[in-house]
Amino acid sequence: MITPVLLSGGSGTRLWPLSRKSYPKQFTPLIGEETLFQASARRLSGPGFAAPLVLTNSDFRFIVTEQLAAAGIDPGAVLIEPEGKNTAPAVLAAALWLARENPEALMLVAPSDHVVPDAPAFRAAVELGRPAALAGKLVTFGIAPDHAETGYGYLELAECLDGAAPKVMDLLRFVEKPDLARAEAMVASGKHLWNAGIFLFSVAAIIEAFRIHAPDLMEPVAASLDAARPDLGFLRLDPAAWSRVRDISIDYAVMERADNLAVVPYTAGWSDLGGWDAVWRAGERDQNGVATTGHATAIDCTDSLLRSEDARVELVGLGLQNIIAVAMPDAVLVADASRAQDVKRVVAALKAKQ
Ligand code: GDD
Ligand code: MG
Repeated sequence: MITPVLLSGGSGTRLWPLSRKSYPKQFTPLIGEETLFQASARRLSGPGFAAPLVLTNSDFRFIVTEQLAAAGIDPGAVLIEPEGKNTAPAVLAAALWLARENPEALMLVAPSDHVVPDAPAFRAAVELGRPAALAGKLVTFGIAPDHAETGYGYLELAECLDGAAPKVMDLLRFVEKPDLARAEAMVASGKHLWNAGIFLFSVAAIIEAFRIHAPDLMEPVAASLDAARPDLGFLRLDPAAWSRVRDISIDYAVMERADNLAVVPYTAGWSDLGGWDAVWRAGERDQNGVATTGHATAIDCTDSLLRSEDARVELVGLGLQNIIAVAMPDAVLVADASRAQDVKRVVAALKAKQ
């Protein structure tokens, strides 16, 4: 059995005004009918998967259990982090929690805000990685890059991909969020894949990796689990111990340092929906490249995204080109599509105004 470990702590500011601090993108139906969180949990359910372990914060705890129940998915344990300390402490807490039952168990760490449309293909990729994970490898999933993205991790393969059937391969190096020049060089080399941010390993292997590469996290994370307080079916990690935990991602804390990495190349479609441009690409578009969602109408528009979440706001685009327009009951974004990545600046600007 593999236990899915769903990370659901981020706030996704580049999808403002849909994604909010109090109700981030993973809990909204961005693409399709289910929310990203529900789709992530469903993708990792069924034969071979245990009930998920969810790591989230106090604000989202009821959304998590409601959305799992609505999707008919058995909610496993929900661990509540007193404050966000990024992914490394969250993964270590999950591993130490699962080790109490079975240190040899496999865990699949997955973000809950990605789009992976072909769930059976994804489960097949997980199956491919299973023997390597059982052998103690830290298994990553690699996406063929199509541009020099600086917001991702890069996986350096020992050999070029030859187009043959995907297989699990050893990794030479993991480089998290390179600068643009380095990203361009890696994309040009043909030997690098993007890190999908999804990991498969045994509980024992990842605990050992933390012990070697981030030993300072061990004591405070273990202490916050030992002093955790059950609360209405949730488990609250101890805030005092947790406040001593260093804020760091698993990519920097472990993946860039470990020498027992493997990768399963994944080609069946993946997007981390890191901006409205990615939502536009991942969703349905008409023959003019226009995506309309909710109460939105496009007339003579091309390559644009129009979305209104509110029945009282009829959003109509006329003669638009490369425009993103998103209307919510209390806020409207109108942006040039080329500026999709700058939407986080909007959020910062609004915060500064408050
Ligand atoms: N529970 C919890 N607690 N979840 C968290 C926390 C936290 O403190 N911080 C982040 N997360 C969740 C986010 O909600 C997201 O689902 C996932 O963990 C990854 O965090 P991000 O902050 O989105 O990471 P990233 O996108 O910058 O980089 C990661 O993903 C890329 C692919 O999308 C890295 O793994 C990169 O190497 C990778 O390419
Ligand atoms: Mg992300």
